[in-house]
Amino acid sequence: MSTPRLLLGQTFEARGNPFRQPWREAVRIDSAGAVLIEDGLIRAVGNRDRLRRDAPQAEVHDYGPQLICPGFVDAHVHYPQTAIIASWGKQLIDWLNTYTFPEEMRLEDPDYAARIANRYLDLALSHGTTTMCSYTTVHAHSVDAFFDAAAARGMRTVAGKTCMDRNAPEGLRDTAQSAYDDSKALIAHWQGQGRATYAITPRFSPTSTPEQLSALGSLWAEHPECLMQTHLSEQPAEIAWVRALFPQARDYLDTYEAHGLLGPRAVFGHAIHLEPREIDRIAETGAALVHCPTSNSFIGSGLMDVAGLAARCIPVGLATDTGGGSSFSMLRTMAAAYEIAQLRGSALHPAQLMWLATSGAARSLHLHDRIGTLAPGHEADLTILDLASTPAIAQRAAEAKDIWEALFPTIMMGEDRAISDVWIGGQKHRPASSG
Ligand code: GUN
Ligand code: ZN
Repeated sequence: MSTPRLLLGQTFEARGNPFRQPWREAVRIDSAGAVLIEDGLIRAVGNRDRLRRDAPQAEVHDYGPQLICPGFVDAHVHYPQTAIIASWGKQLIDWLNTYTFPEEMRLEDPDYAARIANRYLDLALSHGTTTMCSYTTVHAHSVDAFFDAAAARGMRTVAGKTCMDRNAPEGLRDTAQSAYDDSKALIAHWQGQGRATYAITPRFSPTSTPEQLSALGSLWAEHPECLMQTHLSEQPAEIAWVRALFPQARDYLDTYEAHGLLGPRAVFGHAIHLEPREIDRIAETGAALVHCPTSNSFIGSGLMDVAGLAARCIPVGLATDTGGGSSFSMLRTMAAAYEIAQLRGSALHPAQLMWLATSGAARSLHLHDRIGTLAPGHEADLTILDLASTPAIAQRAAEAKDIWEALFPTIMMGEDRAISDVWIGGQKHRPASSG
């Protein structure tokens, strides 16, 4: 038994989905809140005076007016792209060929892969992200590097070997058979090991032959406990390329469905330019979509209809898409989601933005019974937000008439300075220096 700890502050609590019911019924902030944690789990969430009385032996951490949130969940990242974030001037296909593939080649060196995995996780944690679902590279050791680095920090993570057997340079290509074999061996080693979840990961249809997609579809059928992650309908030129490569397919989604790669544990990144049939099929099958708003504007992809899709029975999460995305911060990502919704003519409420980055993203990864919500029995991964972290934010928050208005400047202008503490599995995280 560990020492119980009682965290006092304002608490962000979600009970429902603020895209499918009025946000006031789904989400609330308790200005006199508290979270009791013990043995890595949340034991109670409630009024601070009551929890103090109920747990007089607990060690108290008083965060004053700061906001205690579930740790942020980033539902789509590429940790190998950490060192090429903010690379200038290209759209998707040119960006992959110019910046991404040469960098991913460098992870052929296991020491470099380990260095980048550690650097990425330190950056993510410094921005309040406690769980992420990451792509890796074609190299099996890049999966080991990521899960080893996450285990060293006690983090719950999702990742899988990125499979590509065509339209990628020599050195980054596997085959249908080796993708199957390597992924299978990695599943045997990592799935359910500690806090790791494995995601079978064909990068996207243009870089996999139909044979490779089929092999990975068979592997998923053998391991339905795994997630399956890939990209869908990010840019018009990419969609036209998919149409040329798969002339039999009804649409982009069908290139996955025809090979056994559509189901409730599928996670599709971007999903911007969808046909009505694709939306209906995604809703029917229970697959999840991930909104990557900084990436979608940075590499010029378009404006996802996040509110429209989330209002249907489609799980939707939020993500940085590092390094196509231009930030490691889920706060900055919420701001970009707000701005993109504005360009589509609607305003997302701060309750909806925070939900997307916590419960919504956890749901998209099927981790919602463990993380993403302040609830008894959930794992104690927490991010504490300082709502006055810079002079610009503090002066605006000081004028706020309610807590949501006080939170919104941190969503719009906050980054790593807004993160005052991170707790992982009930332990306060102490940043280590890494390369
Ligand atoms: N589509 C296929 N690969 C990638 C990638 O690495 N980043 C983004 N944003 N889109 C992709
Ligand atoms: Zn991506």
